[in-house]
Amino acid sequence: MVLDLEKRTFLLVTGASRGIGQRMAVEVTAKLKSSSFVVLLARSETGLAQTKAEIEALQLKDLKVYTFSIDLSTATATQFQEILTKSLKDAKAKDFERAFIIHNAGSVGDVSKGAVDVADTNIWQQYYHMNVFSAISLNCEFFRAFTGVPKLVVNITSKCGIEPFASMSFYCSGKAAKEMYFRVLANEQPNVEELVVLNYAPGAIDTQMTVLVQRDSINKELADFFKMQRDTKTMLTTEQTTKKFLQVLQEQKFKSGDHVDYWDE
Ligand SMILES: NC(=O)c1ccc[n+]([C@@H]2O[C@H](COP(=O)([O-])OP(=O)(O)OC[C@H]3O[C@@H](n4cnc5c(N)ncnc54)[C@H](OP(=O)(O)O)[C@@H]3O)[C@@H](O)[C@H]2O)c1
Repeated sequence: MVLDLEKRTFLLVTGASRGIGQRMAVEVTAKLKSSSFVVLLARSETGLAQTKAEIEALQLKDLKVYTFSIDLSTATATQFQEILTKSLKDAKAKDFERAFIIHNAGSVGDVSKGAVDVADTNIWQQYYHMNVFSAISLNCEFFRAFTGVPKLVVNITSKCGIEPFASMSFYCSGKAAKEMYFRVLANEQPNVEELVVLNYAPGAIDTQMTVLVQRDSINKELADFFKMQRDTKTMLTTEQTTKKFLQVLQEQKFKSGDHVDYWDE
């Protein structure tokens, strides 16, 4: 079964330098078969090195960890091909029992602006390149590299992908577009022995992303809500959402392509 975590896995996590992606990269790796390969992407070399060090401290035998600093707001299919080729220099794709990708990297966009405030297509283009196009391009290259290998594809989505929030026109529209791409993928490839797709919404988490929304959003209600959660220390942590994420994978109750939220029963 694609979802059983203890397999020899090729795991790739985007946005692995901090926040949710960093925690997921470490906690997921801890569940894998020891000879797995882990590939971590983000811009910050320092953050990637921290995540790598945490993973190596798990001391899993024959585990390999590769980091690549890449800016997903300009990344190309050729760069993704190179990353996959370099990561596979000591193994063949077919040596892995499963290929697992977590499309986690994300940015919230300019929350100081309303939906009719930004007419500049370059700004939208850059946002969509980072948050939608890069994930699609990487996903295509990942599928090409792991033809014939069972795949688990996770898209870190948001309630914002299915519900509108004022000041979040970049974020909500980007999350909706990205999630629909992954739903189409699940629909096209329904054999769950070969592919399982999960759109996981982690809940509101104490990371740099929610700090930015709290500081800059013109949606005062949302900013105040995050502030209240921070002040009362009730905002969810990356540890809590990662624990739930692992539970969702292990319980195997969702259908491929589903949107599963932290708060779902
Ligand atoms: N926090 C929440 O409440 C919440 C709620 C729902 C969904 N999510 C989703 O969860 C995911 C992770 O968010 P987070 O809260 O952990 O945010 P975060 O702490 O801001 O982390 C974002 C990650 O994305 C990477 N990233 C940002 N811009 C990038 C770029 N141009 N190129 C490459 N990597 C880039 C960052 O690395 P570098 O800066 O090193 O590049 C970082 O590793 C996102 O998809 C977000 O939409 C978060």
